[in-house]
Amino acid sequence: MSTQKPVASCVLLFGLTMAATRGLSAVLETHFGYPPLGPMVYALTASVQLGLYAILQWSLKEFSVDDVMFAAIDDLLTPVRKSTGRKPAILEFGSGPGTARLCQDYTVYSVEHDAKWVNYIAASHYIHAPIVNFSQHKKPSADITMPESDLGWYDMSVISKKLPATYDVILVDGPPGHIGRHGFLLNLDSFDINVPIIIDDVNRDAELDLLKQVAKRVGRPYAIRRYSGKAFGLIPAPGAPLPAW
Ligand SMILES: C[S@@+](CC[C@H](N)C(=O)[O-])C[C@H]1O[C@@H](n2cnc3c(N)ncnc32)[C@H](O)[C@@H]1O
Repeated sequence: MSTQKPVASCVLLFGLTMAATRGLSAVLETHFGYPPLGPMVYALTASVQLGLYAILQWSLKEFSVDDVMFAAIDDLLTPVRKSTGRKPAILEFGSGPGTARLCQDYTVYSVEHDAKWVNYIAASHYIHAPIVNFSQHKKPSADITMPESDLGWYDMSVISKKLPATYDVILVDGPPGHIGRHGFLLNLDSFDINVPIIIDDVNRDAELDLLKQVAKRVGRPYAIRRYSGKAFGLIPAPGAPLPAW
C-alpha cells in the first residue's frame, strides 16, 4: 500500500482530534465553569490517537499482502503480461485490505467466507463461499494428513460454479488460521494447479505443513521467503526455476 494515504489520514485525524479536544474544552468552560484544558491534556489526547492509529495500521499490514509478497507476485506476473499482452489474473483465497493493491495491477478473483469482507474492495471479483465442514468435502486419500484443528474449507459447490476459466497465480491467504487451510490440499484437483502457488503465513506450523504437502502432491519444489517475523511459500509453475531468495 502506498504510504501517502496513511500519512494524509493520520494528519487529518490529528487535526480532528485537536479540534474535538478544543470543542470539549469550550463546552466545559462555557457550561460547567471548568478552566480551559491545558497543553498536557492536548498532548495526551494526541498521543492516544497516534498510538491507536499506529496499532490499526500495524494490524492491517499484518493481515495483508505487503510489499515483499507484492514484489514476488510482480516477478511472476510481469513476464505473463509481457508475453500475452493481457492483464494477468490472481485467484486469491482470503480477501482483505491487501486485495486493493493486487487489483491495481491484476484481475483478482477473491474467494471469501466472511460476509463482512465480501465486496470490501470494489475492484475485486468476489466469490462468497461460506466455510463448510469436511463431511461436505472429499475424503482425504491415505497420503494426505489433515490437522485435527482444521474446521473446514470454503464451500466447493459455490466456488466451482464461479471459478474463472483461467488465472495465473493462486494465492492461499485464507481462511484465517483458526479455521485452517488444508481444505486447499483436499480440493487440489478442482483448481488449475499448473500455475505458481503462493501459501502465506508459513511461519505457522500448519501453513508450512500445507506448503510441503501441496508441493509433494503436485511434484514440484518450493521456496520460502522469510522476513520481519513473517513468511510465505512459493511453488513455481511446472518447469519454472525457484526464486533466488
Ligand atoms: C489473512 S486475511 C486475508 C488478507 C488478504 N489476502 C489481504 O491481503 O488483505 C484472512 C481472512 O481474514 C479476514 N480478514 C481480512 N482482513 C482482515 C483484517 N484486517 N483483520 C482481521 N481479519 C481480516 C478475512 O475473512 C480473510 O479471508
